[in-house]
Amino acid sequence: MSHYLVTGGAGFIGSAIVRRLLQEGARKIVVIDNLLTGRESNLEEVRRSIDFQRVDICNYEEAAPLIRGAAVVFHQAAIPSVPRSIDDPVPSHEVNINGTFNVLRAASEGGAGRVVYAASSSAYGDTAVLPKVETMNPSPKSPYALQKLVGEYYCNVFSSVYGLETVALRYFNVYGPRQDPSSPYSGVLSQFMKAILERRSPTIFGDGEQSRDFTYVDDVAELNLKAASAKNVSGKVINGGNGGRITLNQAWALLQRIEGVEIPAVYGPPRAGDVRDSQAETATAVRDLGHAPKFSFDEGMRLTLEWYRRNVRG
Ligand code: UD1
Repeated sequence: MSHYLVTGGAGFIGSAIVRRLLQEGARKIVVIDNLLTGRESNLEEVRRSIDFQRVDICNYEEAAPLIRGAAVVFHQAAIPSVPRSIDDPVPSHEVNINGTFNVLRAASEGGAGRVVYAASSSAYGDTAVLPKVETMNPSPKSPYALQKLVGEYYCNVFSSVYGLETVALRYFNVYGPRQDPSSPYSGVLSQFMKAILERRSPTIFGDGEQSRDFTYVDDVAELNLKAASAKNVSGKVINGGNGGRITLNQAWALLQRIEGVEIPAVYGPPRAGDVRDSQAETATAVRDLGHAPKFSFDEGMRLTLEWYRRNVRG
């Protein structure tokens, strides 16, 4: 029986894909994760329904046999974060570019059915026009953005040269339950959630008027499943966003409203490599994948906050 393979399956997004696959009745799911940023606890209640392998995608000899023959490879393993890639570019280069090459090579040589790749909206950089459309020229502003873009190009080349089916999904600032808030490189909303529950000020880099198309993790998991089965999409790049645009000041204001507290944010200097505004054009996902996000920002934030309240200690 052919299997689903999720690289980075113990991570925040990968584990959401694993859960979604199980809901759909998937029988055999193999998770590869080196547990650098992933955690086995993210898979706690599904652990016995999957085959978890602590393997690094940079180790081709160990990863390739697991990828061989997969029906679909959901390639989520990566070292995320724009500032992390600036502070320490070597590991992210290694994993995001060489690791992705290994996954594509193993999928191609091993006859896998399709690779769905976690690409990033950071590839757009600062565009003159919003929302950002897949036909715009990429303009990466950080090592991370460039690394993720190289992965997209590799997907396209593996599709056209070797006939491997690939789909690249450009995620737009994914948030939700299980996003780890503990590192300075963690996604901004996870840090906001922790701050509000601890009743302390978050740090906002810049004036807080920069905006993001925050996308709820379950919508991204659903998008991945649609991309796994859609027809005539090989080699394509498709935005995985919500279609909206929220400033950091608005996000922090919403959390204060929900909690009924007033805690002013502390403002620091803008962060190097940051994009000013980000918003997805979602028409391609609707047309090619039949996907439309279900979670409004308000609903996603409330669900996420409840999860942090129950699961993250202040
Ligand atoms: C970028 C990508 C995103 C990708 C992510 C991976 C863009 C537009 N988005 O996210 O698709 O998934 O990398 O890591 O490039 N900030 C604060 N205070 C904090 C933390 C962050 O103000 O404590 C600010 C940042 O300066 C930035 C915004 O919040 O302006 C979002 O930062 P972050 O959550 O790190 O994500 P991006 O870098 O936007």
